[in-house]
Amino acid sequence: MRVVSGIQPTGDLHLGNLLGAILRWVRMQDEAQCLFFLADLHSLSDHIEPASRLANRREMAAALVASGIDTDRAILFAQSDVPAHAELCWILNGTARMGWLNRMTQWKDKAGKNREAASVALFDYPVLQAADILAYQATHVPVGEDQKQHIELTRDIAVKFNNDFDVELFTVPEPFIGGGTAARVMSLRDGSKKMSKSDPSDMSRINLTDSDEAIAQKVRKAKTDPEPLPDDPKLLESRPEAKNLVGIMAAATGREEAAVLADYAGQGFGTFKPALADALVALIAPLRERLVELRRHPDAIDAILASGAQKAATLAEPTLQAAYRAVGLRA
Ligand code: TYM
Repeated sequence: MRVVSGIQPTGDLHLGNLLGAILRWVRMQDEAQCLFFLADLHSLSDHIEPASRLANRREMAAALVASGIDTDRAILFAQSDVPAHAELCWILNGTARMGWLNRMTQWKDKAGKNREAASVALFDYPVLQAADILAYQATHVPVGEDQKQHIELTRDIAVKFNNDFDVELFTVPEPFIGGGTAARVMSLRDGSKKMSKSDPSDMSRINLTDSDEAIAQKVRKAKTDPEPLPDDPKLLESRPEAKNLVGIMAAATGREEAAVLADYAGQGFGTFKPALADALVALIAPLRERLVELRRHPDAIDAILASGAQKAATLAEPTLQAAYRAVGLRA
């Protein structure tokens, strides 16, 4: 079993990232060889001031370590420090089809109506993601639900490349998506939108860097409905905001939704919200405090990334060379 996953170093780590991906990465470190990376080449598809990129990268690396990524066991690195990702992306561009990429919902959402003005990087984004995964022969890719389509495309690219060049080079990876709300944490302001760094309202998400007071305030102001909580999770299906908050409580405290409802059935959000705020503070405050401490050691973070990049490059090299050979560019 080999685990690979990445996160874009743009904006703060939020509760969706934590429950959907990072805290699951942390658990997988015990079970498998894990590679986790900052998808800084991917972030070129967004407009970011060049001057902030290196700072973002350090901050996200520190946030991952603060969240429990243990660099004695897992390899943590930045994508742009390992040229194999960009090289393999280019090789795979020969295999990926325009039609496949045109069907990606993230491309359609982000490019919007003005596709002519969208960057090529945004369109080609899933092929780079495939290279990230296939370079390491990953078997499992722990992600939130929103990345499922990209992992399925990665599988299609791996299968087509192996077939076209008559090789058994790439391992076909499995998306590894958590159950319940953790797979898709929704905005606190709108139960039909996912919690996201790109939402203009900071009240829509809980960040790793939020103070205890900010967490409590965001939970207090989260959109809800006037009904009391039911005793059966099925009765939450038509109540997206209530379902999201109950699901967050379940994921944050490691319980099933039914167990959460057993405690709060018949009660309103006036009782539930303070308990949810307490649970989120208990989850986030220790991570935030570690992050504050790690920020004081930027050289140590840089050293972690440098050593991670070396290890990752060594692991990717045989696959990259085999891909060059398969397409006929190396003897
Ligand atoms: P990114 O940076 O948007 O998000 C990082 C991880 O957090 C998950 N996530 C969520 N999970 C549940 N609910 C949410 N509201 C939520 N928001 C984000 C994402 O699913 C992801 O697992 N393209 C990727 C980065 C990437 C990658 C890869 C991932 C690049 N190459 C290779 C896996 C393998 C992205 O933009 O994630």
